[in-house]
Amino acid sequence: MIKIYAPASIGNINVGFDILGAAISPKNGTSLGDYITITPSDTLKIKNIGRFAFQLPKNMKKNIVWKCWKHFRKIIKTNTSVKITLEKNMPIGSGLGSSACSIVATLVAMNQFFNKPLNAIELLNIMGIIEGEISGEPHYDNVAPSYYGGLQLVINEDNFISQEIPFFKNWIWIVAWPGINISTSSARSILPMQYDKNTCIEHSRLLSGFIHASHTQQENLAIKLMKDIIAEPYRMQLIPHFLEMKQKILNIGAINFGISGSGPTIFVICNKISIANNISHWLQKNYLKNANGFVHICELDILGARNIEV
Ligand code: HSE
Repeated sequence: MIKIYAPASIGNINVGFDILGAAISPKNGTSLGDYITITPSDTLKIKNIGRFAFQLPKNMKKNIVWKCWKHFRKIIKTNTSVKITLEKNMPIGSGLGSSACSIVATLVAMNQFFNKPLNAIELLNIMGIIEGEISGEPHYDNVAPSYYGGLQLVINEDNFISQEIPFFKNWIWIVAWPGINISTSSARSILPMQYDKNTCIEHSRLLSGFIHASHTQQENLAIKLMKDIIAEPYRMQLIPHFLEMKQKILNIGAINFGISGSGPTIFVICNKISIANNISHWLQKNYLKNANGFVHICELDILGARNIEV
C-alpha cells in the first residue's frame, strides 16, 4: 500500500503570473492538501472520501484521478489494475491548487506503486499537461510547488521545468477561502489576450527584481516588487470589495496581499505573528461567506509531496 500527501499552493504570488508558486502548510498542523492511497486490485476502483469529496463529479471518468491513471498507464504500458482512494481535503475552484494536489499525489503514488518507472522531470511534465486539460492551458505554478515544495519558479526549458527560489523564512502566509468557487478556466478567460509594451517591461522589472531580491535576501525590496499588474486588475471584479479589503489588511500591518492563483482565495503575508492573528480574525469575520470557508495561518511547506506511514 502506498499513501502520498500533496500540499496546497499559492499560484502567481502577485509577481509571477503562471510561473511562481509556493507550497503551504498550516502552522497548527491541519492538513491543507489531498491524500492518495493505492492498493492492489483486480479491477480499477476509484473511491472518494474527505471533506470536499461531495464536490467531485459522480462520473468516474471526469475525476482527475482517473485522468492521471489513464495517462500514466498509457506511458508505462501496464495492464495491472489498482484501487485508488482520494481523500479530497481541498475545495475545488478555490485558487489553492486543489487540482494540482490531486494530480501530484496520484502520479507520485502511482510511480511508487509501479517501482518508479518515471523520473521527476517526466512526472512533472505529465502533471503540467493534466493541469492544462483541466484549466484550459498548461501551467506549472501549482503542480511544481506541490510536488517539490517551497517557492518554485517555473522555467520550462528543456529539463529545467522548475527551480527552487530562496524565500524569506520570517514570512507568515495567511490564506482565506470564502467558501465559494471560481473555476480557473473562467478566471483565465477574463484576462486580456494581449498586454501593451509598457506592461510587459514593468512586469519584467518586477519579476526579475523579485527573484534577485529573493536570492540576495533583500526583504524590503522583495515586498515592494510583489505587485500583480497581469491578473489582479481584471480578476478583482470577481472578489467583492477587493480594494477596500486590501487597504484594510495593509492597514492592520500586512506586508503583502493578493489573489491566490485564480481566486477567490486571497493570501496575505506578514512578518509578525501578532499581526497575522489580527488579520486572521478580521478575515474570519469579514471574508467568509459560509461554514465551508476557512482561514489558515501558514508557513511554506518545504517538503512538497511525501509518503505517509500507513
Ligand atoms: N496561474 C494560474 C492562474 C493559477 O492564475 O490562472 C491557477 O490556480
